[in-house]
Amino acid sequence: MSDRPVPRRPRLRTTLTLLAASVAAGGLTLFVAPSADAATTLGASAAASGRYFGTAVAANKLSDSTYVGILNREFNSVTAENEMKIDATEPQQNQFTFGNADRIVNHAIAQGMKVRGHTLAWHSQQPGWMQGMEGTALRQAMLNHVTRVATNYRGKIDTWDVVNEAFADSGGGRRDSNLQRTGNDWIEAAFRAARAADPGAKLCYNDYNIDNWTWAKTQAAYTMVRDFKARGVPIDCVGLQSHFNSGSPYPSNYRTTLQSFAALGVDVQITELDIEGSGQTQATTYGNVVRDCLAVARCNGITVWGIRDTDSWRASGTPLLFDGNGNKKAAYTSTLDALNAGGTNPTTPPPTSPTVSPTPSPTGTTPPPSGAGCTATYTVNAWTGGFTASVKVTAGGSGVNGWAVTLTLPAGAAVTNAWNAQNSGTTGAVRFANVSYNGQIAAGSSTEFGFQGTGSGPTASPTCATS
Ligand code: XIL
Repeated sequence: MSDRPVPRRPRLRTTLTLLAASVAAGGLTLFVAPSADAATTLGASAAASGRYFGTAVAANKLSDSTYVGILNREFNSVTAENEMKIDATEPQQNQFTFGNADRIVNHAIAQGMKVRGHTLAWHSQQPGWMQGMEGTALRQAMLNHVTRVATNYRGKIDTWDVVNEAFADSGGGRRDSNLQRTGNDWIEAAFRAARAADPGAKLCYNDYNIDNWTWAKTQAAYTMVRDFKARGVPIDCVGLQSHFNSGSPYPSNYRTTLQSFAALGVDVQITELDIEGSGQTQATTYGNVVRDCLAVARCNGITVWGIRDTDSWRASGTPLLFDGNGNKKAAYTSTLDALNAGGTNPTTPPPTSPTVSPTPSPTGTTPPPSGAGCTATYTVNAWTGGFTASVKVTAGGSGVNGWAVTLTLPAGAAVTNAWNAQNSGTTGAVRFANVSYNGQIAAGSSTEFGFQGTGSGPTASPTCATS
C-alpha cells in the first residue's frame, strides 16, 4: 500500500517540470530514482542538509493555482508577508483578528511546512491606535500584543521575528520610533514577553542592511545580540532580511557576517531574500548567498520574499526565482544547484573580530565559579499589573546535578506560568526546581529559566540550593 504513491508523486512532478522548463533528461531520472526527489525542489534539497527553504506568502494568493502549485512543490517554510503584522492582528486595541494569518498558518501546517512568525514589535505597519501612543501606555500595549499573539500561535511557530528593524540606517544607533522612546530596554522586554508566551519558538531579531560586516548598522546589531547573550536575554537567532539591490548589494563579506553572528551562539536565518537584477549576474549572486549560508552550520534556513517576480514588493526589480508566469529563472537553477552541492556543515564557526567599530567587552557579569553549590541572578521586566522574570542559575566549582531557586514575591504578586523550571507555590516564597533536562550544570556554567506573574515582580535576592 505504501509502494504505489511513491513512484506516482515524482511522475506528476516530472510532468510539471517538463511543461515548465523542458528539462527532459533530468526529469526522467525520477522514474527510476525516487531518492532524486531530494535534489529537485528547493525545500527538499535544503532539508538534505537540515535546513529549510521558505517563501513569503500572501493570503489573497492562496486561491491562485499556479502560485499554490509552486508553493507546495518547492517550499517547506512560510512567512506571512503582511498578515501577522501588528496592524493586521490587532486593528483595534485589544481586538485581535487572525483570519488571514490563520489561512496561511493552516495551509503551511497541512503541507508540513514550518512557519516563521513575522513580526511582533516594529515601528512600521502599526495600527492607527498604536501609532498615536507613547510612553508607558505604548510599552504596555506592545507587551500585551506580543503576549497575546505569541500565545495564540503557541506550538505552531518555528521562529518568531520578535523585533523588526530597530536600528538606524546609519550611525550605528537605534532607530527613533515611538517604541524606542519607551526606553532602550524595549527590545529585551519584547523578547522576554515572547519567551514567556511561547517557550517553544525560536526568537529572532530581524533587520535589513546588517549583511555587510563593515557597516555600522551590522556592528550595532551584533553588539546588541552579544550583550543579550551575555545578560541572558532570551534570543535564539538573528534574521538577515537580505534585500539586495544596487544601493544595498550582496557584500563579499556576507559569510563573515553570518559566521560572526553565529559565533555569538545564535542561529542565523536569511529571512527576506530578494536580489534585484536578471540573468546570470542575478543567478550567480543567489548561488553565492546559498553557498555562504551552507558554509555556516548555524545558518539554518533561507526564505525568499515572494514566489514570482510579479508577487514581489519590488516587482520592477525582478528579484525572485520564478518569472511572472511561474517559470523557473536562471536564479532558480543556480539556487537549487548550490543547495544540492550541500553544506560542509563545519562544526564550530571560527570567531571573527569586527574590522570597524571595535566591539566592547560583554556588559553582563557572570558570577565566578567558587566552591560547591550554585548562585542565581535575575532580571525583571515589569509593566502595570504584570511582569516576567528571567533567572540565571550558575553552578559553583563542583558543578551540580540538581538545583532549586527560591524567590520571594511581594504581597499581591503571583506566578502564572514558568518555563524551564517547575514552581512549588505561586505566592510569597516560591521555589523553582530544575526540570529533567537542565538539572545538570557543569562547574562555572549556567542555565536559565523564567516565569511570568501578575502584580509586581520580585525585588528580594534569590537563594540557590543544590539537590
Ligand atoms: C513588505 C511587504 O512585502 C509589502 O507587501 C508591504 O506593503 C510592506 O512590507 N521588511 C520587512 C517586511 O520586514 O515585512 C517588508 O514587507 C519588507 C521589508
